[in-house]
Amino acid sequence: MLRLQMPLPERYTNASPDELAEWIGRARATLGDRLLVLGHHYQRDDVMRWADARGDSFALSRIAAERGDAEFVVFCGVHFMAESADILTGPHQQVILPDLNAGCSMADMADLEAVEEAWEDLGRVTDTSRVIPVTYMNSSAALKAFVGRHNGVVCTSSNARAVLTWALLPGEDGTTRGDQVLFFPDQHLGRNTALDLGFAPSDLAVWDPRLDSGGLDDATMKQASVLLWKGHCSVHQRIRPEHVAAFRADHPDGLVVVHPECAHDVVEVADLVGSTDFIIRTVDAAPDGAVIGVGTEIHLVHRLDAESPTKTVVTLDPVVCPCATMSRIDPAHLAWVLDGLVEGEVRNRITVDEETARWARIALERMLATT
Ligand code: 13P
Ligand code: SF4
Repeated sequence: MLRLQMPLPERYTNASPDELAEWIGRARATLGDRLLVLGHHYQRDDVMRWADARGDSFALSRIAAERGDAEFVVFCGVHFMAESADILTGPHQQVILPDLNAGCSMADMADLEAVEEAWEDLGRVTDTSRVIPVTYMNSSAALKAFVGRHNGVVCTSSNARAVLTWALLPGEDGTTRGDQVLFFPDQHLGRNTALDLGFAPSDLAVWDPRLDSGGLDDATMKQASVLLWKGHCSVHQRIRPEHVAAFRADHPDGLVVVHPECAHDVVEVADLVGSTDFIIRTVDAAPDGAVIGVGTEIHLVHRLDAESPTKTVVTLDPVVCPCATMSRIDPAHLAWVLDGLVEGEVRNRITVDEETARWARIALERMLATT
């Protein structure tokens, strides 16, 4: 999705790292408690050093909502995270994304129009009142609102299991909420979670939004328990079973932990699988001397290694691919938005209209109630 970030004034593009650091530090001191800078775990170090709080996407939105005294929330993450923060914060708080081009390529793989079309196609062959739409946190506010309107729910990589259980497995009264789930935009998180819950590969079908009716025949559309949107994360999809094998050859006693956005054949050969938060806790809990191979974004892997001097944390991906969109947030953009705030100008505010926010909030609240 194209979001146009205006080029920065030369003052910022020509500044040295030291100058930028000085300007950022000065603006933060001037703004004091009116400002909250949030840093996602995948953020680069020269930006992360300025974060008042670090976390995963959902935790950071909650921190923004809890810090109601912060008038300006500068979200050093990607677009869907800033939208979620705007949905969860009060009307007196303004959320800012330092570079508008910091999107998420996975979130952009499902847009409202394509999902509405899929819903209509499904409606021709199956009873959609028994289909629960589930959107991963990594999706636009418009999609969160869509699932809110259709009795669906949001999930994160930490609670996808609980959410699919809520949607498809019998509750205490023995009834199920739905017969099918349409899961978007990440096929891998959906597949890994459904297989972990005991669904068979034949219970799952991939919905390709570029093909008529998702590329599926009517019988499959009607029978699949989980319809997996054909989306992926380009960072996590790079990690392959051969990388795990190479790590194990070098470190026979090493531990392998990967993010559930990795493909299922990688998850099968890993020791542990979990969200960014889970990966951090796994490294923290490992004994001194442990060697841990991690399958996630490189900034987090490097930070874990630097901050765990008694352990060795290495990336499984030899090409070391960063989340390119997250990396667009750099000290120059951070300095530019902070200087704007000092001068009374709010640059790059992210807003979600009230109707979309209302339904998206319902989907997020449903998630909280299920987990
Ligand atoms: P978290 O939900 O753990 O923040 O992960 C977000 C993400 O983009 C993973 O690729
Ligand atoms: Fe999106 Fe992947 Fe980047 Fe996460 S790592 S923000 S899923 S592109």
